[in-house]
Amino acid sequence: MRKVTLLVSTILFILTVYASGWKDSTSPDKWNSFSGDKKIEQRVDSLLRLMTLEEKIGQMTQFSANWSITGPVMSDDFKPYLDKGLIGSIFNATSVEGIRRIQQIAVDSTRLGIPILFGQDVIHGYKTIFPIPLAEACSWDLALMQRTAEIAAIEAASDGINWTFAPMVDIGRDARWGRVMEGAGEDPYLGNRVAEARVIGFQGGRGGASLGALHTLLACGKHLAAYGAAESGRDYNTAELSEHTLRNIYLPPYRAALEAGVGTFMASFNEINGVPATADRWLMTEILRDEWGFKGFVVSDYTGINELVPHGVAEDEQHAAELAVNAGIEMDMTGATFIKYLTQSVEECRVSEETIDNATRRILEMKFLLGLIDDPYRYLDEVRAKENTMTPAFMETARKAVSSSVVLLKNEENILPIRKEKAITVALVGPLMNDSINLNGEWAGLGDRNKSVSILEGLTEKYKDSGVNLLYAEGSAISETSPAKIAEAISAARSADIVIAAVGESFHWSGEAAVRTDIRLPEAQRQLLEALKETGKPVVLINLSGRPLDLSWEDEQMAAILQAWFPGTQAGYGIADVIAGDVNPSARLVMSFPRNIGQLPIYYNRKNTGRPVDLTDETIDYKSNYLDASITPLYPFGYGLSYTTYAISDLRLDKSSMKAIDDKITVTATVHNSGAVDGEMVVQLYIRDLVGSVTRPVKELKGFQKIALKAGEVRQVTFDLRSKELAFYGIDMKKKTEPGNFRLWVAQHSDDNENEATFAVE
Ligand code: BGC
Repeated sequence: MRKVTLLVSTILFILTVYASGWKDSTSPDKWNSFSGDKKIEQRVDSLLRLMTLEEKIGQMTQFSANWSITGPVMSDDFKPYLDKGLIGSIFNATSVEGIRRIQQIAVDSTRLGIPILFGQDVIHGYKTIFPIPLAEACSWDLALMQRTAEIAAIEAASDGINWTFAPMVDIGRDARWGRVMEGAGEDPYLGNRVAEARVIGFQGGRGGASLGALHTLLACGKHLAAYGAAESGRDYNTAELSEHTLRNIYLPPYRAALEAGVGTFMASFNEINGVPATADRWLMTEILRDEWGFKGFVVSDYTGINELVPHGVAEDEQHAAELAVNAGIEMDMTGATFIKYLTQSVEECRVSEETIDNATRRILEMKFLLGLIDDPYRYLDEVRAKENTMTPAFMETARKAVSSSVVLLKNEENILPIRKEKAITVALVGPLMNDSINLNGEWAGLGDRNKSVSILEGLTEKYKDSGVNLLYAEGSAISETSPAKIAEAISAARSADIVIAAVGESFHWSGEAAVRTDIRLPEAQRQLLEALKETGKPVVLINLSGRPLDLSWEDEQMAAILQAWFPGTQAGYGIADVIAGDVNPSARLVMSFPRNIGQLPIYYNRKNTGRPVDLTDETIDYKSNYLDASITPLYPFGYGLSYTTYAISDLRLDKSSMKAIDDKITVTATVHNSGAVDGEMVVQLYIRDLVGSVTRPVKELKGFQKIALKAGEVRQVTFDLRSKELAFYGIDMKKKTEPGNFRLWVAQHSDDNENEATFAVE
């Protein structure tokens, strides 16, 4: 009998729902949506009208699936909410089968049957793992970055995921902060371009227009804002910075993500100038929505709302939920504060129902756009998942991404490449030589670390049937070694002509909550390198790390250094391509490498100060210098070598001045591949605004081009430097281009001053 009653009431309910029109509505309500699609707006509103206050708040609630280690078992924390239709989104649920099980409960067993939006941290690949984002940014190859994001989206969407918590677009100026690995480095101009490329890649095009296509993911720009400005690089720490620095350096990449059409943002954990981002109405509403016009939704970071209590701005979790929702946070990630407290807060008039309605609308709209409301199971197809996972084409892109991301920092006497034709013996040593686990980095998603190609495998494959004979001895683990281990490595080195040492960090040492105060190689590995050096054999260092390390000693002692970051699934093949010279390295640093930890934070676009250091004599007293080190980095932003040489000349500007509004100067320069090997070069355009209403950086990147040049080839490059690119937030906190004199460089890296010109803005 109960079953019959249930059936009848379900049928009646479905009829009511259809009659009210939310499956296909013609409701006339006006609403400012992300898509601007009137039909969707009407459908969202029709659905909203059917919802209780609690159900609306349920849509604003997200839980992590917390799968048990043995399989998809739902956590007790969220199951009761799921059963009542009080969850809008779940993340960390994996596999088509697991996701289907959750979706079935949401769709079949709840009053309104609103499907769940499935999220996941798809950061640098889903199953096919690409180099960490910091590494990939070093390729300066935007098409490549867009493509790897597309592939990640194809794989994840085929597995039932709808939403990635990426790209992370936080500027990183401090290598102690472990999350620099997830971003695009220290520069806002490059950061903007990379943010756009990744959003377009994940969402299948600009403006979110392709959302809902089965190969796309909803993207999430994170972490708004200035998460990377954490004092002393300590994760989650206070960011204390001027509004000028916030607006001129940290905010631009979030804005660029927005302009590329990102559908969601994630709030950052940190406070900025005394206000935690999660409770910051100025940031989340006045800047993000009123000033920038964002129309998607904002999710808090993991328990970020609950953390307003220890931050000391909320009395308790209810107060925290109210602060967050009133600031402009639409979804609570895992904290359960919204679902526990907001109904009461609305009843007691501390949160308006309109705020809840608008938040719910924004979330529902994404579900409509992704096609989930019309077909909750449309992404779930085991065959498609299988066909779209780790395909040969994806592997090929991953391999290219590796060889495009490794930065050649030093190459004494052209010891690299070691071409196959050479008849030599090479000793392969180091803790990361025969490793496939660490090479994927901390955010390797659902990638199977065991499927990654180690450097040993890559080199063995590369040099099989060649003149190059390989020996292997580990020599040291990541943090410890023994005299016997070192002795083995020494013996291999003595029998070889060249040593290649793969050293670096454990993958846990970067990523979230992975801050280091000593960014040198661990003691054990340094001992190994010292012992190898004593053999007198040249050592080629492959450094694998999630951040710039202090490689000062290595720079003095090693014959060559290849910064390979954490390269992912195809690590060994991609690195072997570079070592053997089948690929000429073309990557350029996107973060400065310090000479020592005391220099941090260090970045090329620093201010001059009133007592600038004379770089030709840094010992002059009472200047903004150090007593015991240079102020310059070991390797600057934009730097990287290749197996050929390049020369830039004939810098010309088509005019010597331009107007502040709607004008441009065309800059040309000649680039020559002056060596004997074909290669790709990143030509970089920098400017310096000499006098501003507020102080300006000593250099700012304003353009770049990655061009392929055959050995001996000469090519002219052209940049259109537009007046609007020179705009910044000045003394009145308005963004504009100020008249005055400028310097300009077309350069190979940020410390290359050879080709300089001047111009004026009238
Ligand atoms: C991180 C976010 C991430 C979230 C979900 C948080 O701890 O800060 O970047 O997206 O967890 O995994």
